Amino acid sequence: MGKLRSLWQDKGNQYRYIRWIAHYTKPYVWKIGLMMFLNLLSIVIGLVLVQITKMIIDNATEGLGFGSLIVIYLLITLGTQAISIFSGLFATMLDEKFSFGIRKQIYEKIIHSHWTDINRYHTGDLMTRLTSDASNVADGVISTIPSIIQLGIQLILVFGMLFYYSPLLAVFALAVAPVAALASRWLGRKLGKLQNKVQESESAYRSFLQESLANLLVVKAFSNEDYAAERLTKLRDERFYWIFKRAKLGTASTTVLSSTFQIGYIAAFSYGALQIYRKMITYGTMSVFLSLVNQVQGPVIQLAQQIPRVVMVLASAGRIMELQNIPLEEHRENVLVGQQGIGVKTEHVKFGYLEELVLDDVSLSIQPGEFVAVIGESGIGKTTLVRVIMSFMSNVEGLVEFYDAQGRTEPANASTREYIAYVPQGNTLFSGSIRENIRMGKLDATEEEMWEALRLSAGEEFVRNLPEGLDTRVGERGYGLSEGQAQRIAIARAFVRKAPFMILDEATSALDEQTELGVIKGLQELSPRPTCLIITHRKSILKYCDREIEMEG
Ligand SMILES: Nc1ncnc2c1ncn2[C@@H]1O[C@H](COP(=O)(O)OP(=O)(O)OP(=O)(O)O)[C@@H](O)[C@H]1O
Ligand SMILES: [Mg+2]
Repeated sequence: MGKLRSLWQDKGNQYRYIRWIAHYTKPYVWKIGLMMFLNLLSIVIGLVLVQITKMIIDNATEGLGFGSLIVIYLLITLGTQAISIFSGLFATMLDEKFSFGIRKQIYEKIIHSHWTDINRYHTGDLMTRLTSDASNVADGVISTIPSIIQLGIQLILVFGMLFYYSPLLAVFALAVAPVAALASRWLGRKLGKLQNKVQESESAYRSFLQESLANLLVVKAFSNEDYAAERLTKLRDERFYWIFKRAKLGTASTTVLSSTFQIGYIAAFSYGALQIYRKMITYGTMSVFLSLVNQVQGPVIQLAQQIPRVVMVLASAGRIMELQNIPLEEHRENVLVGQQGIGVKTEHVKFGYLEELVLDDVSLSIQPGEFVAVIGESGIGKTTLVRVIMSFMSNVEGLVEFYDAQGRTEPANASTREYIAYVPQGNTLFSGSIRENIRMGKLDATEEEMWEALRLSAGEEFVRNLPEGLDTRVGERGYGLSEGQAQRIAIARAFVRKAPFMILDEATSALDEQTELGVIKGLQELSPRPTCLIITHRKSILKYCDREIEMEG
């Protein structure tokens, strides 16, 4: 019973994957159709050329003229070249456009989904889905499926011809079809699972590569170079194991199918020989039979070889769809006016990343324009509270609501981030120039606005002293700046936004007291004055705050 159910689910899934691919392929159908038409045209032209060659030779042997035939032959050959140049370029363009289209769709999906849902996946895994899985699907749509259709057409044509000559032989030639169908069903399910394993091992391999390169310093600091290399080899071996298993299964299936075809061929051959023995057919007919039987089997074998590729495409489509199924964030229209700052209120908020609650029945209110410090021991849930206010999670219970001085309210949603300027905990700079980093806070910020933000975040002086100023390039995570300098750039990025609600999560932890004081002064100088929520472990900041909220177990 269980097996039956899983079979049913398997099929249901595959149907969904096919529907998803079909839906996604719709805008490209005409282009793919054109490509297939060009391919079929080349096949037909090939057949015509064979005919012309035959005519030229026949004419020559019979002493007839063949000059104009040669000219036609030449023109058609040139035409074929033109078609093949065009279709080659066209296929490249189509492949690029299609695979980028899928990638862009996944990427947009990822950035528009709830952060916690996406954060469950390792970046390496997401990268695998964005690159390797997307390519598999694109290859499937651009090459595997069209070639299956072409082979199908070819098969029907040749089968029709054979059937015309001898229905019985045609049946012999196709006797293998049910075997092929059964084998492909069994194989399809097995291969689907293997393909998922292959892609999972690819994800693990990439995740490790990416993480160990990003944290090379830690690898070296603990003299873990050999260990890292060993782990990489182990992950590679894992991948090799699944790939080899997949290859073995693929080979086994092709062998079974082609042996069956051989048997079909021998059966047809014996039948033909018997007919000759009985003087029912001529040798000529026999040779036509055999060549047609061959031509039926050719496309059938090629079709069978496409099965593993189709399975690969479906498995990758499934992995992409898994991301597609994550619900999108909710957006609402912004209604608050934040001239005097915006307040936030939580009532009976409950949230846990896993089963265990991190926030249990949290109720608090921060008035518009208030300057509030949140304190509490490490790991208590301060950053988590901020993430709830930022609407990064999808499964928060209770009420989280913003309100303005006029008493309008708006429940927290993805759009209420418009009201907030956030300095996250830790180093969150991007590689690129300091200017590009600050502009992330406000994409159209002017030079003056950026320098003003730097002045208020106590970063103006050090940036002015850099030889290239705002154009100074920094590496990943702000590599090239000191930790405290990176923090001040991150603060400037938030200040430049001029948002009515400011959140700083341990944003000054790397600064000396004097510089930190400068930042706090800058914060109070911001105009219009925002509401402030500061998470800190430093007592020195508290005296500048209107109120402190302590989180405890
Ligand atoms: N992405 C996550 N998945 C699962 N658990 C998490 C995740 N992030 C945090 N936690 C857990 O939630 C709890 C609260 O973490 P949080 O980062 O909010 O603490 P914090 O008060 O900001 O601590 P700190 O002062 O050290 O920054 C911790 O026990 C932590 O283990
Ligand atoms: Mg924290």
